[in-house]
Amino acid sequence: MKAIILYDSRTAGGSTDKFVDIVGRKLAEKGAYVEKAKCKSTGDYSFVRDFDAVILGAPIYYLLVSSQLLGALVQSNLREALQDKKIGLFLACGSPEPMANLLYLPQLKINLAGTHIMTERVLAPQQLTDEAVIGKFVDDFWEACK
Ligand SMILES: Cc1cc2nc3c(=O)[nH]c(=O)nc-3n(C[C@H](O)[C@H](O)[C@H](O)COP(=O)(O)O)c2cc1C
Repeated sequence: MKAIILYDSRTAGGSTDKFVDIVGRKLAEKGAYVEKAKCKSTGDYSFVRDFDAVILGAPIYYLLVSSQLLGALVQSNLREALQDKKIGLFLACGSPEPMANLLYLPQLKINLAGTHIMTERVLAPQQLTDEAVIGKFVDDFWEACK
């Protein structure tokens, strides 16, 4: 499997960066070829066509999915490039899961209509470096992609 992690975060070296690195390592341990790239709202996402699977996610800042990822889904060709991909979604946020599922996940999913979301997960800050939690996320994604 060729997988790319497309993500956004305002915090260089922050919790999302650490999460992405662990996800990448765990996917690679399963035998996937993995790349990662930070989203830009004005980017050209044609390169996504070279991958089978995409892990997509970002933190929440002030009630909104981080702007470069949301912007890319709204403004660029990212949504089109995702149409036939197997997608794993994640969000990093400080709010309890029910609120996150209600308020935050739909911001992504409304822009992903018609795509194949294999798994989705909201993570609290302390879970973003928890090997067991991330292992489960990666296992779920891997199994769903088989
Ligand atoms: C400026 C700022 C605003 C935030 N706003 C929210 C919010 O509205 N809702 C929420 O659930 N979490 C919020 N959080 C928590 C972040 O989503 C969470 O800490 C995330 O892991 C940060 O990722 P990062 O380390 O990559 O920046 C906020 C964090 C920061 C720093």
